[in-house]
Amino acid sequence: MKVLILGATGLLGKALVREWTGDEVQAMGSRDVDIRDSARVGETIGEARPDWVVLAAAYTDVDGCESHRELAFSVNRDGAVNVAEAARQAGAKLIFLSSDYVFDGKKTSPYEVDDKRNPHSVYGRSKAEAEVQLQGILPNCCIARTSWVFGIGGRCFPDTILRLAANRPALDVVNDQRGCPTYTVDLARAIIQLCRKGASGIVHVTNAGDCTWFQFAQEIVNGTGLATQVRPVSSQQMARPAPRPAYSVLSATSLCRYGIEMPGWKDALGRYLQERKS
Ligand SMILES: NC(=O)c1ccc[n+]([C@@H]2O[C@H](COP(=O)([O-])OP(=O)(O)OC[C@H]3O[C@@H](n4cnc5c(N)ncnc54)[C@H](OP(=O)(O)O)[C@@H]3O)[C@@H](O)[C@H]2O)c1
Repeated sequence: MKVLILGATGLLGKALVREWTGDEVQAMGSRDVDIRDSARVGETIGEARPDWVVLAAAYTDVDGCESHRELAFSVNRDGAVNVAEAARQAGAKLIFLSSDYVFDGKKTSPYEVDDKRNPHSVYGRSKAEAEVQLQGILPNCCIARTSWVFGIGGRCFPDTILRLAANRPALDVVNDQRGCPTYTVDLARAIIQLCRKGASGIVHVTNAGDCTWFQFAQEIVNGTGLATQVRPVSSQQMARPAPRPAYSVLSATSLCRYGIEMPGWKDALGRYLQERKS
């Protein structure tokens, strides 16, 4: 199988490159191809002739998207459209990484793949609009929604908590947003399997179990033996530019259909902390 990874220099992209063995993999960051440039995207995919394009490239600064709206839509929606059109032209399959932020967070039970999109942030809207357009261009494309991604090789929540905890006696962390932390290694392995199984349609891919950011932070601090106190606060007390869903737990039903089972997030965090030490 020939695979082209776009966004290969990002958090997930790096794990994909490390984990993907046994196939012919080409890996590209924004310096190799800017997905906003449709001609370049067409040329790149046309020349590579991959069986699969893995689209992990995105403008992922959720708060930054609020103040850089145009950039958010040009990369996350229009860039994705450019890739889908080029993939269709080249006869390649496409797997697009999307987000739990396409939902409004009003549910109290895990989101299923056919639950209505209703994003409240610019980032969420850019991803939701990309999903709709991609399904129009390539009805058999695979949309892998994930959430709260952490891993080695870039900025992520556990990394931030550990950096702050090293210098502060106490940390305030929001306790009214619930989701599924997801380790890049497990996410990458699931994506590889989805491609090998010829997946199509929307699939939710997260580590098993859920928690609030506060509970996640507690587990991170406890796992490293730091004495820092983690204090629960509300989203109102920690106002951010982009609204986040209060509840964005993604159901594993769609992934189970492919016979893929994800490890629990606490197990994943333990492996991340080990990887970080070595
Ligand atoms: N992180 C999360 O918590 C999370 C949650 C849900 C969904 N997702 C989705 O998962 C995917 C991977 O996320 P991530 O955390 O790995 O992101 P990341 O670490 O921010 O990496 C983003 C990647 O996109 C590339 N990129 C940005 N703008 C580009 C452009 N105009 N043209 C081409 N490439 C561009 C970057 O390339 P350079 O570094 O070379 O500039 C980088 O490789 C994204 O689709 C994201 O929306 C992430």
